[in-house]
Amino acid sequence: MSPGRIGPMETHNRIVLPAMDMNVSEHGEIEQPEIDHYVSRAAGGAGLIITGACAIAFPHGAASMKEPGLSDDKYIPGLKALADAVHAAGSKLCIQSTHHGKVARVDVANDRPVFAPNQPDYTYDMSALADSTREELGKMGAATAGKQTEYREMTDEDIAWLIETWADAAERIAKAGCDAVEIHAAHGYILGVFLNQRDNKRTDQYGGSLENRARLACEVISAVKQRVGDRLAILVRVAGEQYGQDGGLTLDEAVEASKLFEQAGADAIHVTGWGRNPFDNFTDGPLPNKVGAYLANAAEIKKHVSLPVIAVGRMLPEVSEKALAAGQIDFAAMGRQLLADPELPNKLRDGKFDQVRPCINCYLCVAENFFDDTPFCAVNPALGNEALLPLKPASASKHVVVVGAGPAGLESARVLTERGHRVTVVDKSDRLGGTMWFSTMTTPDNERLLKWFKAEIKRLNIAVKLNTPATVESIKALRPDHVIVATGAVRPKPDFPGGDLPNVQTGDTLRAMMLGTATAEEAGALLSTLGKLGRLSGVTKSPEFVRQFTKFWLPMGKDVVVIGGSLVGLELSEFVAERGRRVTLLHEKQQLGLPLAMPRRWTAVKDAEKHGVKIHRNVSITRITEKSVEWTEGGESFSAPADMVVYADGTTSASPLADELRAADLGIGVDVVGDAGAVNYIHGAIHSSWKVTTEL
Ligand SMILES: Cc1cc2nc3c(=O)[nH]c(=O)nc-3n(C[C@H](O)[C@H](O)[C@H](O)COP(=O)(O)O)c2cc1C
Ligand code: SF4
Repeated sequence: MSPGRIGPMETHNRIVLPAMDMNVSEHGEIEQPEIDHYVSRAAGGAGLIITGACAIAFPHGAASMKEPGLSDDKYIPGLKALADAVHAAGSKLCIQSTHHGKVARVDVANDRPVFAPNQPDYTYDMSALADSTREELGKMGAATAGKQTEYREMTDEDIAWLIETWADAAERIAKAGCDAVEIHAAHGYILGVFLNQRDNKRTDQYGGSLENRARLACEVISAVKQRVGDRLAILVRVAGEQYGQDGGLTLDEAVEASKLFEQAGADAIHVTGWGRNPFDNFTDGPLPNKVGAYLANAAEIKKHVSLPVIAVGRMLPEVSEKALAAGQIDFAAMGRQLLADPELPNKLRDGKFDQVRPCINCYLCVAENFFDDTPFCAVNPALGNEALLPLKPASASKHVVVVGAGPAGLESARVLTERGHRVTVVDKSDRLGGTMWFSTMTTPDNERLLKWFKAEIKRLNIAVKLNTPATVESIKALRPDHVIVATGAVRPKPDFPGGDLPNVQTGDTLRAMMLGTATAEEAGALLSTLGKLGRLSGVTKSPEFVRQFTKFWLPMGKDVVVIGGSLVGLELSEFVAERGRRVTLLHEKQQLGLPLAMPRRWTAVKDAEKHGVKIHRNVSITRITEKSVEWTEGGESFSAPADMVVYADGTTSASPLADELRAADLGIGVDVVGDAGAVNYIHGAIHSSWKVTTEL
């Protein structure tokens, strides 16, 4: 929370919103939705706002026609409106500037060769795309109008033009009254591509040694410095490391490059990371899975420069605070966390740590950028719709009964209470979270959200009745004015021959056993052993404990067959395989992991394979026996041993309670939210809840 300084710019704290393109501009102009987005993060307390990438030569070198432009004075009024608004909200504004080089989709779509150091070899393992749907592939292809990329080896004239154009862009940023410019030298854009030896094979003064490879970035930095002098702070974004293919930038090289950037006139180094294969390494960089993923690299770079260093990459508040206090870094950039909760800095300042709505690392936001679309956030429906906040008070306070304490029920209860309604939540199980509690086993990031919900329910003093099955009569007895049904999806037993054998479990029976609420009928012969786990989880109610404990003791035989490879089946397979079981995953379709967002899906498939899950796609199940599962695939018959079969398919929405309530004609409004209305997991739960509860 202490003030920070970068060159001529002082910030009121050390929290930075890093660049995240919102894709809402039209033809290079900054429009009001973009201003609203940044202003809400400035008002939420971030000391420095960095815009998403802006194109120095727009539309040349742009990744999207929705990207703000910096190539003409006509863009200055939009930049100025943004700067004024961010300043009025109390923060400083930095404009990220780039030429996207090989990723300039606008150039490809318009038959312009893209800039590269040389005719390149950007070959990647693209097998991950087998898990993208036809629609997703179509949308990705549309961003380049389905055209093939042609490369242009940059000539000396091109290089001189690029440097001059960058300096012109910085001039406009300064004229608009912004505080800083960030020069992008990472993420596969032109300066980042020159920097690494895998992509830069030039034999002139811009290729070869690190000094030569960094020359273009240094010349851009110097030209910008000369042009804007002390009017703007100059940040340089660099990958502390490149992940994936050999030949990417190493930490040692990033340290050397940072030293050269300092000499060239940089005022701060912003340390990111980059996965070289966007399909395989995206969750290594630029959006890491790992908490504090680039902190060690940032700390190392800081040892070698005398400039402030910004670290990014899941810099959670507790990680950031420690690193800042230890002097490892000077600023912490929090990207997705500030999408999930723009008020994060103010909440930290006010000691309301528990109230920070966490990002669940689901990658749904950034997946939209693959399609040249506008990001949305699974846990924050106001992203891109900032006018939804603050929540409007209800015109008349009602008593609302919410049935189900999963994410849809809890979010409904929270929003309704914030708006002034009185809410009673009822749930048949013994704990909050519903399916989300169960999902925290395989997806630990969801546990942050569960904890947040619990803290919010407590803070808002919402009445919760657990171990309380809801019926028309029991709801009537609560005398509500309105009922929200958030009872979740149904997971039927499989209808294959053998689907009713005792070694077959469904998501529901597994969940009931984990929660300790399984009946003998549900759990079959396995109840006696699995029940122990249920009792344990019932005692601790701590997902983390059960997650760790099951690494030592999991009541499943050696051979497990999971049928159904969508989100739940895929993550469950990995979870079980990680615990030493031989897992066969049988999926009746091609794409695994749906509806996980693409980058996360690609990584989940890779991780499952890494843990030894044997994956079979496009299969047709023939029958289940007490010891095996049989299926056909490409006209051939197969079988796999199975001590336990988990049926993770067939999840469908259903809300029989809502039907009964409506049929009972009690004169009470009834709404259905979450998976009970349409199966779309946490994102669907929260967004559908807002649709209903912000209107009630
Ligand atoms: C939706 C979205 C768009 C992004 N766009 C950009 C961008 O325009 N320029 C950039 O350098 N990084 C971009 N990033 C990467 C972020 O700046 C940040 O480095 C990354 O999200 C890791 O930080 P985090 O873990 O705090 O989210 C984007 C990230 C997201 C989520
Ligand atoms: S969409 Fe998912 S990853 Fe992105 S900010 Fe929201 S919760 Fe985080």
